[in-house]
Amino acid sequence: MVIAIDGPAGSGKSTIAEMLAKQLTLDNGGRFVYINSGNLYRALTLACVQHEVDIQDEKAVASLARSADIEYQNGAVYLNGADVSAQLRGDNIDRAVSKVSANIPARHVINALIRKIAANNNAVVEGRDMTTVVFPDAEARFYLDASAESRARRRFEQGVSKLGIEEIQKSIEERDSMDKNKPEGSLKIADNVIYIDSSHLTIKQVYEKLEKIIRLKG
Ligand code: DC
Repeated sequence: MVIAIDGPAGSGKSTIAEMLAKQLTLDNGGRFVYINSGNLYRALTLACVQHEVDIQDEKAVASLARSADIEYQNGAVYLNGADVSAQLRGDNIDRAVSKVSANIPARHVINALIRKIAANNNAVVEGRDMTTVVFPDAEARFYLDASAESRARRRFEQGVSKLGIEEIQKSIEERDSMDKNKPEGSLKIADNVIYIDSSHLTIKQVYEKLEKIIRLKG
């Protein structure tokens, strides 16, 4: 079974997807892998940094995507054999990942990798184009939304950003615009997807909504 979740940055989809994968694994006595597709784009961006590949050079990025050895094991991301999970959230990666993830041939490589991981497992996958491009026929497809204001407030309350709430909201809106305007794999609400607006819901409430729907689908 594949459960696909898309939504904008900060909508809580990573937290929800990870919780679902853990609970469904316990309940079913079978493995549900959690796949955070954004982390695979981040690993490719890290590979660009390590190999000093200019991210504006589309051919070089595409070629690196084909040659880099990116693996996903138990929620950790490996780049050329090394666990790089802790290096994927740095400012340098944040700045470059939108450009790298807009590279169409690189997207095809990452999409193939995601499908390969999911082929041998039950999976909860999340990102921007899981319900539209990568798994349009997934058994359960969700779009998890939240207003830019509520996402900015959540981020501000986490206390991890040095920015003020208005600056955080501005950067969220810029990211939304980039995600929605990619030539391929852009963020959009797919037909027949289950749409949930989490602006006024807690993580627990969102989780319970998804879990109930998944159980109904068997
Ligand atoms: O979810 P995230 O912020 O970690 O994603 C990192 C970047 O990758 C972000 O620019 C959106 C992009 N991305 C994408 O283009 N397609 C996906 N399926 C997942 C993420």
